Amino acid sequence: MTDYPSSVRVFEVGARDGLQNEKTQIPTNVKVELIERLVDAGVKAIEAGSFVSPKWVPQMADTAEVMGQISREENVSYSVLTPNLKGYEKAFEHNADEILIFTAASEEFNKRNINCSIAESLERFAPVVERAKKDGINFKASVSCSLGSPFGEEITPAAVADVADKLYQMGSYEISIADTIGVGTPLKTKQVLEAVANKIPLEAIGVHFHDTYGQALSNILIALQLGITKIDSSVAGLGGCPYAPGATGNVATEDVVYMLNGMGIDSGLDLKKLVKTAWFISDHLGRPPVSRVANALKSKLGRDT
Ligand code: HMG
Ligand code: MG
Repeated sequence: MTDYPSSVRVFEVGARDGLQNEKTQIPTNVKVELIERLVDAGVKAIEAGSFVSPKWVPQMADTAEVMGQISREENVSYSVLTPNLKGYEKAFEHNADEILIFTAASEEFNKRNINCSIAESLERFAPVVERAKKDGINFKASVSCSLGSPFGEEITPAAVADVADKLYQMGSYEISIADTIGVGTPLKTKQVLEAVANKIPLEAIGVHFHDTYGQALSNILIALQLGITKIDSSVAGLGGCPYAPGATGNVATEDVVYMLNGMGIDSGLDLKKLVKTAWFISDHLGRPPVSRVANALKSKLGRDT
C-alpha cells in the first residue's frame, strides 16, 4: 500500500493566476468578494494579485485596491506575485504577508514573460530577496515550464532541479514546480519531482499544474505518492498565462478537494463553499466553470439562490 500524507496545504491562486488572463476588466469588488469567499471556504494561503507592469498584465492593475479592500482574517496568508524590486515595494506597502518570485526552466518563456534570461532573473530577484529577508517577509518561488515549454525546447529534469535548487539556496521557503502549459504526464512528473527532491527537501516542494491536457489530478496523485503536501490550485479551474500560448486553466480547487476528500486527506477546505464560489465567479465571467466537480455538484450545491 502506498502511504499518502494525512493533510495538505492548498495554495489558492484563482484571484491572480486565475484572473490575470481575463480580457475584460473584472471589477475590484468582485475580486475582493472572490477572495473573501475563498477564505470563508477555509483557504489559509491565497494569492490575491500581482504587482507587475500594468502594461504587461492589465487585469492585475488594481491589486493595490484589492489588497486595501479585503477584510483580512488572522492566520490567513495573503500573498502577491512580484517580478522585481518595484513590485516588492508595492507588496510591502500594501501589507502582503508573503510574496511569490518566479522564473522558468525555459529561456524562451522567461524572455517573453519577464523580459530576461533565467540567470538575469535570479540576479533581478537577489535584491528582492534581500529586502524581503530584512523585512521578515517570507517568499515562495515558482519554476515555470517545468514539464514542457510552449516553444519546443526540451526541458530536462536536471535543468528544473538546478533552477529549483538556486531558488531554494536564495531562501525561498517553497519552490513551486509549475506545469505552465499543462502538458506533463505522470511518469515525466515523477522524474522531474524526483530530480528536484534529490536537491531540496521534500517539505520545500510544491506543485502548480495547469490542466490543459486533463493530466493535473494524475500528476498531483504522483506528487502525493512522493510525499509532497503543497498544492496550488484555482477555483473553477480559472487561469492561464498571457505569455504561454495554448495554456489553459489551473487544476480546479474543487476537483483537488473532491479527490483529497475521497482519499481521506485533510485540506481544511469546505467543498460546498468552494463549489458556490466557483459558480459565483463563473457567473460574473459569463461562462460555466471548467471544473468537473463544480458542474457535477451544480444542482446540489451550485448557487446561493
Ligand atoms: P520591462 O519592460 O523589461 O521592465 O518589463 P522595465 O523595468 O524596463 O519597465 C518597463 C515599465 O514597466 C516601466 O514603466 C516601469 O516603471 C514599469 P514606464 O516607464 O514604461 O511607464 N514597471 C512596473 N510597473 C508596475 N509594477 C512593477 C513594475 N516593474 C516595471 N513591478 C517586467 C519587466 C518584469 C516588469 C514585465 O515583464 C512584467 O511585469 N512581467 C510580468 C508578467 C506576468 O505577470 N506574467 C504572469 C505571471 S507568471 C505566471 O503566471 C506563471 C506562474 O503562474 C507559474 C506557472 O504557471 O508557470 C507563476
Ligand atoms: Mg500558473
